[in-house]
Amino acid sequence: MFCRKKKPHHKIMNDDIAKSAAIIRSRIGVLKPGIAIVLGSGLGGLADEVQNAVVIPYTDLPGFPRPSVPGHEGKFVAGTIEGVPVITLKGRVHFYEGVGADQLKVMIRTLKTLGVNTMFLSNAAGSLRPDVKPGELMAIADHINLSGTNPMMGENDDTWGPRFFGLGNAWDKNLCTILTRSAAKVGITLKSGVYVWLLGPTFETAAEIRMAKMVGGDSVGMSTVPDCLIARHCGMRVVGCSAITNMGEGMSDEVLSHEHTLSQAAIAGKSFVKVVVQFLKDYQAGH
Ligand code: HPA
Repeated sequence: MFCRKKKPHHKIMNDDIAKSAAIIRSRIGVLKPGIAIVLGSGLGGLADEVQNAVVIPYTDLPGFPRPSVPGHEGKFVAGTIEGVPVITLKGRVHFYEGVGADQLKVMIRTLKTLGVNTMFLSNAAGSLRPDVKPGELMAIADHINLSGTNPMMGENDDTWGPRFFGLGNAWDKNLCTILTRSAAKVGITLKSGVYVWLLGPTFETAAEIRMAKMVGGDSVGMSTVPDCLIARHCGMRVVGCSAITNMGEGMSDEVLSHEHTLSQAAIAGKSFVKVVVQFLKDYQAGH
């Protein structure tokens, strides 16, 4: 009996990456972005700053995520901000959507194929620190993975990175310093802290928030760490910040909901745009 040999899984993903990169290249022409910016919940406004914008829906790109959460549209907006070539990503998938890490790997490795070497990751997060309030931004200095899962588990494709890799500089210290300085230049004091990833989609219990504080966390959320790990695996630098949308459960009387997250992120979003625009100028200038 004729039996067709099944294509290895990583080969299917790499085919998708090559096809997606070719589609993007054909649409962005000579633009060569070195940095991509993932826009978290409610932070999509930065994409409006992109000049000569080329919009590419993820549905045009094989293997790309199909975000299902409101506030995550699922498209690339590529162009320049202050003359710096960028790709902004409106919409991400989260582990709690139950789709695994493959789509995220295809997305990030496609960016790598296009020559992106720095990922700016943003998100909405709850604060664990009384001195960091809703509406503020917090730079991500490091993270703690309390999700019980890891996007790098399963088969490793050595062509992208090693099976085992260190996380000593998971969040690039130099870029974090630049980000903090850029914020200061536009009049924003950017505190920095440790982001704790919990799987979601439930918000935390008050007891979980006490635990997250106790283990050394400053903020808590349901995203971003997978993106960081996949980007570091293939040798990209990672920098980013959270829009604080609420105090962790039990730290205030707010009732948490996704709508609340989106409305508060929109407030922090104004500072976010200012900080990232300045960061891009400083990043380009190399200091
Ligand atoms: N917990 C988890 N994720 C979040 C929160 C929170 O308090 N706020 C925004 N995203």
